Amino acid sequence: MTSFSSFPLQRCVLVAAALLCHGTTALSLLGRKSTANQVLAYLQQNDQLAPFVSQGGTAVITGGNSGIGAETVKALVASGMNVVVCARNIDSANQLKDELGTATKDRVEIEYLDLSSLASVQEAAASICSKHDGIDVLINNAGIMALPQRETTTDGIEKQFGTNHVGHHYLTRLLLPQMRNKGRVVNVASTAHNFGLSAGNEDWESKESYTPWGAYGTSKLSNILFTKQLKKELVSVNQGKMIDSVCLHPGVIASPLWKHSLPSFMQPLVGLIANKSVEQGAATSVYCALSRHVEDGAYYDDCSPVEPSQKAQSDQLQEALWMYTEQLLTEKGFELPSSSVVAENVAAVN
Ligand SMILES: NC(=O)c1ccc[n+]([C@@H]2O[C@H](COP(=O)([O-])OP(=O)(O)OC[C@H]3O[C@@H](n4cnc5c(N)ncnc54)[C@H](OP(=O)(O)O)[C@@H]3O)[C@@H](O)[C@H]2O)c1
Ligand SMILES: *[C@@H]1O[C@H](CO)[C@@H](O)[C@H](O)[C@H]1NC(C)=O
Repeated sequence: MTSFSSFPLQRCVLVAAALLCHGTTALSLLGRKSTANQVLAYLQQNDQLAPFVSQGGTAVITGGNSGIGAETVKALVASGMNVVVCARNIDSANQLKDELGTATKDRVEIEYLDLSSLASVQEAAASICSKHDGIDVLINNAGIMALPQRETTTDGIEKQFGTNHVGHHYLTRLLLPQMRNKGRVVNVASTAHNFGLSAGNEDWESKESYTPWGAYGTSKLSNILFTKQLKKELVSVNQGKMIDSVCLHPGVIASPLWKHSLPSFMQPLVGLIANKSVEQGAATSVYCALSRHVEDGAYYDDCSPVEPSQKAQSDQLQEALWMYTEQLLTEKGFELPSSSVVAENVAAVN
């Protein structure tokens, strides 16, 4: 299929066919071409929205000011939910809010969050918890990709692992006690998880050897391992599926994400690699966040569960990453709520 569709003529035929089918299939079927709005319309028309949507539920999203995060915010707000947009760039978050209609923009709140600083994660979580006694959806969407050189966060953690995984692990742990029954955690991973840990097993921070895509892959593999371990942690404290944990690959999208890896004169190349628009890129996030049924612990692509790599399915790696991360947080001086607190508060919120 890949080699076939790379022939320009045949690709044109495929595109033409897709356009012709577009009108009839878009709303009746979700797939690789679906946009965030089409997913929302599909869920609405087929009575497939999670109950918290009509109950005026609340979603928290990281990196909600840009790229697929911003498109996800638009669809969540359109569904009727309240949205807390976490961003390190407040101006850009305000700009997004201003673009929304006057009726809907009251349901958007902006929270400062820099995931590359654990103190900032702690402050943001405390602020969110003080304003909201119930969170239905947490979307860990923010990310950086393929930094040319090895860099570290404020706390001395390899920057892609620190931002994409550790910051989100900590944020999730701090917000979980505030999450409502039947809520869910959605982690935006990537097919790049296949490059994860290729240099050395359990070299989570690329200390042995650093490559831009290897470190990115490890951070995205971590997003999937975290999703699957979180499912187990929630089951063990809480007898099962009260909060679902899922992750996804959004597709390959010409978003600002590439600014981290390519110099500006090479940015136009991204258009050749990417085959989803930003609106299509947010589709699976919206599906995972709002659909009535999701498969707990699953990795989604084009709105369906798919199998990630063998490494991502390793129970041993899932546990090892969880322990490594919790130990790292403790070593850096950041306290974590105990698991039993999660269970008690989940019960109390109901
Ligand atoms: N685009 C793709 O092809 C693709 C493919 C697979 C997976 N993904 C994943 O999709 C997610 C969203 O990416 P995107 O394509 O929408 O890119 P994007 O437009 O660059 O969005 C990334 C978001 O993360 C935020 N962010 C980065 N570092 C942060 C930090 N230290 N603290 C707080 N926020 C931070 C960015 O903030 P600023 O605006 O301030 O930079 C931005 O809002 C990422 O997790 C990425 O790994 C993307
Ligand atoms: C984009 O390309 C990938 C890899 O060839 C393919 O699997 C996927 O279906 C394509 N997506 C779209 C929307 O065409």
